[in-house]
Amino acid sequence: MMDKPADTKHSIHELIAARWSPRAFAPSPVETNHLYRIFEAARWAPSSFNEQPWGFIVATKNDLEAHRSIADCLVEGNRRWAEFAPVLMVSIAKLAFDHNGRPNRHAYHDLGQAVALMLVQATDLGLVAHQMGGFDQDTARAKLSIPDDYDPVAGIALGYPGDTEKLPRELKAAENEPRQRKGLEDFVWSGVFGASTLFESPVEPTLKGD
Ligand SMILES: Cc1cc2nc3c(=O)[nH]c(=O)nc-3n(C[C@H](O)[C@H](O)[C@H](O)COP(=O)(O)O)c2cc1C
Repeated sequence: MMDKPADTKHSIHELIAARWSPRAFAPSPVETNHLYRIFEAARWAPSSFNEQPWGFIVATKNDLEAHRSIADCLVEGNRRWAEFAPVLMVSIAKLAFDHNGRPNRHAYHDLGQAVALMLVQATDLGLVAHQMGGFDQDTARAKLSIPDDYDPVAGIALGYPGDTEKLPRELKAAENEPRQRKGLEDFVWSGVFGASTLFESPVEPTLKGD
């Protein structure tokens, strides 16, 4: 499979630059200790009130029935490539705080951070992952026994990189497209919303008596 490192304007950690979302997965299984390591990385994500409102329902091809249950939740456009991934999961977010029962408006934010750290760790282990919003939440809730106080958020396909050439033609084309991002000026503002992204060099503090 191809590497598609981010074409960055400023240098970033190579693991962050290397991560991308391919659709071709090798059939090789993911070692159990690698699975533990990626979830351990997720475990150490920060979260509001340290509530850790994330959850992951995971199936490997060791349990084909469980793997198929997750694949069955995906929309067809995702299922057609994701079902070949040796590991499928669905991330879930707990919507109310344990400590007071109130809505946790940071639940999705915190789950996203846990997934981001998981993916950095996965990249370091030579794994690739592809997240999917395209799945049926009601099917997931029913098939995966997700309780009402959790929201199914994203499907995630995980495995070792596969052979892009084996993908159907239209998927192969998408796989080769360059990775695009907005510019920093489109989402980072100086002081107030919309103000241009200009960081001045810090002024050295003047010590009293200087
Ligand atoms: C929450 C979420 C939902 C996504 N849903 C899908 C999806 O249903 N199908 C798909 O092919 N890719 C999906 N993606 C992958 C994005 O399209 C991809 O991350 C984005 O284009 C950036 O590409 P990169 O991850 O290779 O940098 C999703 C990503 C996220 C984070």
